[in-house]
Amino acid sequence: MISAIVNIGQLVTLAGLQRPRVGVELRSLALIQDAALLIEDGRIVAAGAYAEIRTKIPPHAVLIDAQSRCVTPGFVDAHTHLVFAGNRAAEFEQRIAGATYQQIAASGGGILSTVALTRAATEEDLFHAARRHRDWMLRSGTTTIEAKSGYGLERATELRMLRVLARLDAEGPVRIVPTLLAAHTVPPEFAGRRAEYVRWIADELIPEVAAAGLARYCDAFCDDHAFNVDETRSVLTSARRHGMQLRVHAEQFRPGTGAALAAELGAATADHLETATAETLSHLRTAGVQPVLLPGSVFALGRTNYPPARTMVETGLAVVLASDFNPGSSPIASMPFILSLACLQMHLSPAEALSAATINAAWSLGLGGQVGSLEVGKQADILIHEFADYRELAYFIAAPARPRVFVAGREVTP
Ligand code: NIG
Ligand code: FE
Repeated sequence: MISAIVNIGQLVTLAGLQRPRVGVELRSLALIQDAALLIEDGRIVAAGAYAEIRTKIPPHAVLIDAQSRCVTPGFVDAHTHLVFAGNRAAEFEQRIAGATYQQIAASGGGILSTVALTRAATEEDLFHAARRHRDWMLRSGTTTIEAKSGYGLERATELRMLRVLARLDAEGPVRIVPTLLAAHTVPPEFAGRRAEYVRWIADELIPEVAAAGLARYCDAFCDDHAFNVDETRSVLTSARRHGMQLRVHAEQFRPGTGAALAAELGAATADHLETATAETLSHLRTAGVQPVLLPGSVFALGRTNYPPARTMVETGLAVVLASDFNPGSSPIASMPFILSLACLQMHLSPAEALSAATINAAWSLGLGGQVGSLEVGKQADILIHEFADYRELAYFIAAPARPRVFVAGREVTP
């Protein structure tokens, strides 16, 4: 099947580099005006000015009229906690009244309240909740999602969460990249026996999950209220030995919690980094670890300590932007809203933010050769926006705009 998207006013290709963008490259979107895309069997076979592509469009091609609007790659959301039961609206209310996220966690709420609900939910319930949240993301243009376990913290529920992710991926159209996050917090039944919990993850759960092929990445929450650097190292080295790649929740609340370790272990990403120092950035730089910035969790926790994104760009780090969608610190499914926060609160330009949320995010998931840009050979994951100019994506804040969404060349607009 051959189709062509024609009459594209502004085509954001992000083409040209076989690696993530750094420094000034983040601003170079490889824009083409008056453009067209030719798609065959789900892949892009030509992208360029309409005047050049026109002769390649066969007479039987299905024509899609972009009505002079802006076309971009689908968003790649590289950090989400997509699967969970219930919500934390009651804690939202407590935080508004003055309680902090850490206080709520210390009194048994927070992550553990979602763990209790998730353990009690059936696989069917979890599947339908995850699909509902996935559809919110798809509606705002996300076509690839990294998603973590971490609300089970016991064998059966961690495996159930990962199976839900596998089912959602198989159902399509959105590609789901699964990550094991059993080291999210210490479950109540291991209170006072944290070393045993860490050993169980490293020696039993990771080998089982790896053998079942249920997770491509392993993540751990390295923080004062979660796991220290040595505990995180035990989990992640086991994961690496079993063939998983690594991501780390690092330095969200205190510097020195995870970035050096991410560098030491060759992790793909260090995520959060709200308290990152110059030393943090130099570790990431030396080891080529991509920082995944999650401004949604800063915003939704009512905090102001956004990570130092500008310094990261100037340091030459291949920054990624993600939603951190989860029921506690970031109940935000919309990548366009994350772009707005990145621009207004972290001073990324709209072009930098868009690169970070597409092609750089794709590289951080090992998918840079397949999605994240619109160039020949890539999967045709494409958004036709309501806007004519890509900057409007960030500028119209929380706009109820609906792009037309194509995954592998097929229109899936929900
Ligand atoms: O990325 N920081 C730890 N984990 C999540 C929050 C999960 C939750 O509160 O349920 C995060 O912010
Ligand atoms: Fe997270």
